[in-house]
Amino acid sequence: MQQDASPAQRSSAAGEGRPSRTVRPRHYLMCSPVHFDVVYSINPWMEPAKPTDTALAVAQWERLRSLFLGLGHQVELIEPVPGLPDMVFAANGATVVGGKVLSARFRHAERADEGPAYAAWFRENGYEVHDAVHTNEGEGDYLVTGDRILAGTGFRTDRRSHAEAERFLGLPVTTLELVDPRFYHLDTALAVLDHEEVMYYPGAFTPESRRTLRELYPDAIRATEEDAAVFGLNAVSDGRHVLLPEQATHLIDALWSRGFVPIGVDLSELLKSGGSSKCCTLEIRGRERGAEA
Ligand code: ARG
Repeated sequence: MQQDASPAQRSSAAGEGRPSRTVRPRHYLMCSPVHFDVVYSINPWMEPAKPTDTALAVAQWERLRSLFLGLGHQVELIEPVPGLPDMVFAANGATVVGGKVLSARFRHAERADEGPAYAAWFRENGYEVHDAVHTNEGEGDYLVTGDRILAGTGFRTDRRSHAEAERFLGLPVTTLELVDPRFYHLDTALAVLDHEEVMYYPGAFTPESRRTLRELYPDAIRATEEDAAVFGLNAVSDGRHVLLPEQATHLIDALWSRGFVPIGVDLSELLKSGGSSKCCTLEIRGRERGAEA
């Protein structure tokens, strides 16, 4: 693949002693930002007075989608619903493990209708959907690693949802509590890179959750505040390629040194709503592959 040529050369030239990374092809669900806008504010990034450029949002999103396709991933699309300007953030639409779908139930009324819209897509496509009892914002707060689910709480997802997710999805859930309003979803503060490898910004978590993360992932990449503030942790990894904002320069260096191939993306329009590449990407983990990260 064209784009991979220089990263591949770079990693083989200086790759001594680094783990070699393998891609596991992914199945994603995305939603075009044709109705994207910032008309309400439910996180500190959103300023309705600031103008948005929907055409630019669509172009940036299209680039993300073609990157996924170019890397060999499958991308499904859900029809965008007028009046739901944040529906582009597909990660919030559900959590899918082993072909089972836990529906989303949004904290704010402005996004409430997105939950049923995503649940309907999954039902129409033959998935088993559990209608969530407790508030949860899908993969915004549920990140699946090789053998567990890391679950955020503090701003959006209700802690009681964690037990519901564990019961329905059948993987142990580890609760992590967020404290910095800029990093209101877990996927803005932590990214899963491979089975049991993550990167995260410690300052986004309570001391207790930081301890949990240190114990689980002693070798994790720790992001600087600068990297977190440009949404560097809102990254999508396929086990080898890691798509993240090009401004997250420290993380990009750290990823190279661990044998990953970082790919910079620009989603500046969507950042006006507090989202980037991971927010736009819902992973459909099928039955055959179970819950691998
Ligand atoms: N404006 C949206 C909200 O505040 C952004 C969601 C970003 N999604 C994510 N997975 N972090 O809900």
